Amino acid sequence: MSKAALGMAAAAGLPAWLRAAQGAAQGATNQNGMNTVGADSLRTHAAAHGLLCGAAVVPNLLDVDGFAAGTTSDAYTRLVAEQANIVVAENSMKWAALRPTATTFDFTQADRLIRFAELAGQRVRGHNLCWHESVPAWLQTTATKENAKQLLVNHIQTVAGRYRGRIHSWDVVNEAVNPKDGRGDGLRNSLWMELLGPEYLEIAYTTAAQADPEAKLTYNEYGIELDTPEDTAKRAYVLMLLRRFKARGVPIHAVGIQSHLQASGPQPGAGLVAFIREARAMGLEAYITELDVNTHKLPGGPELQDAAVAEVYKNYLGLVLAEPNVLAALTWGATSAHSWINQSKEPWAKRADGSRQRPLPFDDDLRPTPAFYAFRSAIDTEKPLAAQPIGPPTTPAAKPQDLYKPFAVPGSPTAPAKPQGAS
Ligand code: G3I
Repeated sequence: MSKAALGMAAAAGLPAWLRAAQGAAQGATNQNGMNTVGADSLRTHAAAHGLLCGAAVVPNLLDVDGFAAGTTSDAYTRLVAEQANIVVAENSMKWAALRPTATTFDFTQADRLIRFAELAGQRVRGHNLCWHESVPAWLQTTATKENAKQLLVNHIQTVAGRYRGRIHSWDVVNEAVNPKDGRGDGLRNSLWMELLGPEYLEIAYTTAAQADPEAKLTYNEYGIELDTPEDTAKRAYVLMLLRRFKARGVPIHAVGIQSHLQASGPQPGAGLVAFIREARAMGLEAYITELDVNTHKLPGGPELQDAAVAEVYKNYLGLVLAEPNVLAALTWGATSAHSWINQSKEPWAKRADGSRQRPLPFDDDLRPTPAFYAFRSAIDTEKPLAAQPIGPPTTPAAKPQDLYKPFAVPGSPTAPAKPQGAS
């Protein structure tokens, strides 16, 4: 796509502040002499090609007030605004973050992300409403077979209800399949399974649909990318689950393919493409939700790591973005300074030479890596130009005093008899 065409696409779809920033950035180059901002950013290329593209972020690190005032000099904040048209909280919307106690919610960080994204004209993914991990200690000691349904329903109504109309897609249930647990249906033996049986899945999706009818309800999973026997089997169980949802009329709109990939060893291929097509045949969208590339087994310095990581981005995004129902691609972290891989002490995260990993399109110093260029060129190559570039969310801006006003969800155990304000 020519620069002029990209500029026009951007002008048609992006908020005024970003167009101004792009204008200011005209001609700006990075250390490697390549322009990666403004019309050359991932965001602009993605918007022009109708793709949602972004990253998992840490809301607490965003200078939201400075950004709102147009004065921020914080590099992370500027990078996230510049490069993403969709963001997701890495941890701030999980139970462990939102639920300090059984009777309270703490929305500080989640609200912060929503406010930032709305200022930046970005969409937000919600991650997640029901998972076996990252649950508060009180839940494990408080939840029983008798109260588990109410706990789950109340949580989803409150959280999805609070952000009703402001979330592009919710990971309603995360990682519910684990064939190693030995159940015939391939489902994981989680806390929710133990207390509610497989019905917990349908409870979660139907409650989320009521609480936020506009959000694309997503099932998000890892370990389904490769053509290895293990991933192939897991993919088959996920497909079985999605078919069961469709057959029973469970509201589901998308599948999230996490995509935590390795630089060495087997790579994704025909099995994943067939899976995405099966999902499409069921009417489901597909999102790449947590892309990163781990180099813990790869010898060599940063240049070799970068080349191997970029090669995986090129091949992987070339494969999946070619599928018309793949509508979003997010990396798990915006820069390697913020990657969970570099924060982990697990053996699978540690390189033999002790060096830090470089799994993302931006490095520890927030400079673009070769993966950035691989990502951008895969967007240009695989996604056709959109008739209407992706712009800011269509939800009209709320009045500041109304922005985070909780409201009752019909059917909620905590709902008043009549909607608020009804006479
Ligand atoms: O916030 C506390 C901090 O107060 C405390 O001092 C510190 C001590 O360990 O822990 C901090 O919480 C950690 C949190 O990340 C924030 O850094 C948790 O221990 C740690 O378990 C948590 O890890 C997150 C993990 O999910 C579990 O929730 C990772 O950051 C996050 O990247 C990872 O993300 C998951 C996706 O949600 C689902 N798919 C796989 C992906 C990678 O595991």
